[in-house]
Amino acid sequence: MKPREAQECEVRGSRVAVIGANGQLGSDLVQVFADWDLVPLMHADIEICDFVHTRDVLGRIKPDVVINTAAFVRVDDCEDEVSKAFWVNAFAVRNLAHVCADLGSTLVHISTDYVFDGKKREPYSEDDLPNPINVFGASKLAGEHFVQAICPKHLVVRSSGLYGRAGSSGKGGNFVETMIRLAEEGKPIRVVNDQVLAPTYTRDLAESIRDLLNREASGLFHVTNSGRCSWYEFAVAALAGRKQEVSIQPVTSAKYQTPARRPLFSILASARLQQLGLSNPRPWKEALADYLTERS
Ligand SMILES: NC(=O)c1ccc[n+]([C@@H]2O[C@H](COP(=O)([O-])OP(=O)(O)OC[C@H]3O[C@@H](n4cnc5c(N)ncnc54)[C@H](OP(=O)(O)O)[C@@H]3O)[C@@H](O)[C@H]2O)c1
Repeated sequence: MKPREAQECEVRGSRVAVIGANGQLGSDLVQVFADWDLVPLMHADIEICDFVHTRDVLGRIKPDVVINTAAFVRVDDCEDEVSKAFWVNAFAVRNLAHVCADLGSTLVHISTDYVFDGKKREPYSEDDLPNPINVFGASKLAGEHFVQAICPKHLVVRSSGLYGRAGSSGKGGNFVETMIRLAEEGKPIRVVNDQVLAPTYTRDLAESIRDLLNREASGLFHVTNSGRCSWYEFAVAALAGRKQEVSIQPVTSAKYQTPARRPLFSILASARLQQLGLSNPRPWKEALADYLTERS
């Protein structure tokens, strides 16, 4: 067995195609993988819903690793646009799984805490049975199954509450930016305080994905920033230290109805990271503080 450093150098020389390269997570992956043989692919470069086109694009690149961040991420819109949700989050992922299997590439696919129903009330491990309660979660779970069933070399990484400097192109910003905008407009803010999550900075997630590839990990992994909070506590932390007064009101999910139901508790435990000698990224408040400094 080669020493770990030698193994990591070998992996670092790999050609990595990042799909969704200008998205929130994608743009941080592009930075984190800058010293690899990196091929960033934006939506204009690849349409993953088109199998033949996807096969041609990736066939020309011949990547060792494909990281797929593309998704239809607007959770509420997925309830009405069911077909689009399953096309982008499941059938397009099946396309990628077939293409990567044929090319012998490792497919790294990003999934979500919304595959769980939130009833467990303690952190979900990778071995817990998913039970999505909205269309988005169901479509993402189908995507996971396609990857696992079709592509022998794969890594499925579930995360939660992503925010990053690029802002989610699919959502038109991210939660932190929305809170800041509402505060600057002087609008009263209502945020649910009975949904518990682990907010995750996309740069930290990107670094963990690199660490997993360096360890030649495969299978399903949970990766989030450490700790937990409600969306209300997340909003309060995002707006802490602002000079002007901000009115943030905690509300229950029952009083803040949305088209898609959301799990009340979706903390992801990451036993498998620990088995590899890795740990979850830093506490969410530290990551958020860095994000707030960097954006300003
Ligand atoms: N956001 C969250 O809170 C969250 C939580 C847990 C997991 N995740 C997962 O994390 C991943 C990354 O999320 P994100 O917030 O970084 O998303 P994002 O900012 O919306 O980025 C998605 C990227 O994929 C591209 N894309 C969308 N549809 C495509 C298609 N059919 N073919 C090719 N490219 C396409 C988008 O391009 P255009 O914008 O130009 O279309 C965009 O560059 C997703 O799989 C998401 O489900 C997100």
